[in-house]
Amino acid sequence: MSNNHGDPAETERLLGFGSERKKTRRELCTIIFAAVIVMSAVIVIVSVWASLSSGANSYEKRSVILMISDGFGPASETFARDYNQYVKKLNYNYLTPLDDILVGSSRTRSSNSLVTDSAAGATAFACAMKSYNRAIAVNPEKVPCGTVLESAKHFGFATGLVVTSRITHATPATFSAHVVDRDMESDIAVQQIGDYPLGRQVDLMFGGGLCFFLPNSTEGSCRIDERDLVKESKKRGFKYLSTRKEFDELEPGKDEIPLLGLFTPDHMSYEIDRDPTKEPSLKEMSEKALKFLESATADSDKGFFLMIEGSRIDMAAHSNDAAAHVHDILAYHETIDLVKKYVDEHPGTVMISVSDHETGGFSLARQVSNQPQYLWYPEYVSRVNNSSFVLSQELLKWDNDREAYVKKIIRDGLGIEDLDDYDVNWLGENRTQLEYEYYLVNITNFKAQLGWATHGHSAVDVNLYAYGQGSDVLRGNHENTDIGEFIVKYLDLDLNYVTNKLNRHVLSIYSV
Ligand SMILES: *[C@@H]1O[C@H](CO)[C@@H](O)[C@H](O)[C@H]1NC(C)=O
Ligand SMILES: *[C@@H]1O[C@H](CO)[C@@H](O)[C@H](O)[C@H]1NC(C)=O
Ligand SMILES: *[C@@H]1O[C@H](CO)[C@@H](O)[C@H](O)[C@H]1NC(C)=O
Ligand SMILES: *[C@@H]1O[C@H](CO)[C@@H](O)[C@H](O)[C@H]1NC(C)=O
Ligand SMILES: *[C@@H]1O[C@H](CO)[C@@H](O)[C@H](O)[C@H]1NC(C)=O
Ligand SMILES: [Zn+2]
Repeated sequence: MSNNHGDPAETERLLGFGSERKKTRRELCTIIFAAVIVMSAVIVIVSVWASLSSGANSYEKRSVILMISDGFGPASETFARDYNQYVKKLNYNYLTPLDDILVGSSRTRSSNSLVTDSAAGATAFACAMKSYNRAIAVNPEKVPCGTVLESAKHFGFATGLVVTSRITHATPATFSAHVVDRDMESDIAVQQIGDYPLGRQVDLMFGGGLCFFLPNSTEGSCRIDERDLVKESKKRGFKYLSTRKEFDELEPGKDEIPLLGLFTPDHMSYEIDRDPTKEPSLKEMSEKALKFLESATADSDKGFFLMIEGSRIDMAAHSNDAAAHVHDILAYHETIDLVKKYVDEHPGTVMISVSDHETGGFSLARQVSNQPQYLWYPEYVSRVNNSSFVLSQELLKWDNDREAYVKKIIRDGLGIEDLDDYDVNWLGENRTQLEYEYYLVNITNFKAQLGWATHGHSAVDVNLYAYGQGSDVLRGNHENTDIGEFIVKYLDLDLNYVTNKLNRHVLSIYSV
């Protein structure tokens, strides 16, 4: 081939236009040209006919499912894939439910730091705007910014939030409340049930965090005041539920939105610790949310906006707890599978899956001796039965035979029989819960040869995944605010309108 490179006659021959056929070339071109014209005409006619005959085309009824894997960087995805391959003895070419819908990456910095927090990260998605760390849907000047959830509600979409953290925690808060600091969770809860200028905006909330809805006179309340938001939410029309049984009995037709399901006082359990008889999984909550939002919009030409967060992927990474991290990621993967099927069956729905930031500076190798080794050991992660958070709480309880007690916790919890005497002695002392927790995770990380650079977040770009019509425009490297922009365009929303509505009211409050 290379000998003939540049020889036009030879090229023509190879392409089937040898010299002996030159005479007929013009005729052949004419035939091909005519065939192309005829085929194009057929395609146009067929597609016009298809779009006319489908009438209320399902593609016209649009919904967005925004999935947020909090604190999940690229290393965490490789980690979960490697872990699955190891534990389930899968082939090296096994892909996770996320791997085959990768479209690009998202840049995460906030308006005031190269390293974002979850509040600024979610404000970028919700308001399509960069703001400062700790900002809950307010701009850098601390003025409320309209969110995609609020604008969707305004235009007649149903809205929902499904999380495994407290429902008042930064990510869900940012779609449904406006405060200058993420710690103002008492105020966030008040806004979430609809006591703010826009009225009720969220039709369905499933997650943890009941403690911020109970009056401060109640045992286990986290509120700063005496307001009983469970009672108030019922007055505002919510059906409230808090048990597994109530959750299982919930059915569209029998019950309807608005729904407020708070299944734990604080965050829901890590997946590795979850008691399925007490708490529903992320997948189960998402499945039920989809049923309710779909049925609530059955007679409408508008669908819904649903945000689903794998919230505790992040918290496990903050603790550097590899086992808790991977089990929450796998639960998120199962939810992705569910939502992908939903999108297949509802072609007007698009799913985006993205992280607000990486957490932990996680690394899938760690040098534990003079020489680097080229490996990490999933085995030590797979042996773990409990989060180190739960085990650290066990270690706080005293037992007279402390050595045997420590050894039993490590054996049953971390799957380690041959704990060093040094470790047994260290854990034998009275320490704080956090000291125990960080010590325990290091035992597993060291043996598995996993590295963590921080107990906080890092600035690395995160993976961007999308599935459904129109999601191709998300290909490539994006600013996190582009995710918000995409939702605005896809659902034809107007954030400025909501921002003005919010602030007209704020200004009138301050001017009285
Ligand atoms: C509960 O909140 C009220 C304000 O609503 C405050 O006056 C009271 O001191 C608080 N009580 C407790 C026990 O914190
Ligand atoms: C913990 O998991 C191991 C498998 O790694 C299992 O053999 C053991 O029985 C479990 N321990 C408890 C207390 O459930
Ligand atoms: C740890 O996990 C095992 C297996 O799920 C469970 O039987 C055990 O009760 C858990 N331990 C603690 C302290 O929660
Ligand atoms: C640790 O605390 C327990 C309970 O408060 C106490 O009984 C025990 O003596 C303490 N152990 C040490 C080593 O300080
Ligand atoms: C982690 O464990 C290794 C091995 O026991 C030890 O050398 C190292 O100091 C530990 N690191 C921390 C931060 O505890
Ligand atoms: Zn986060």
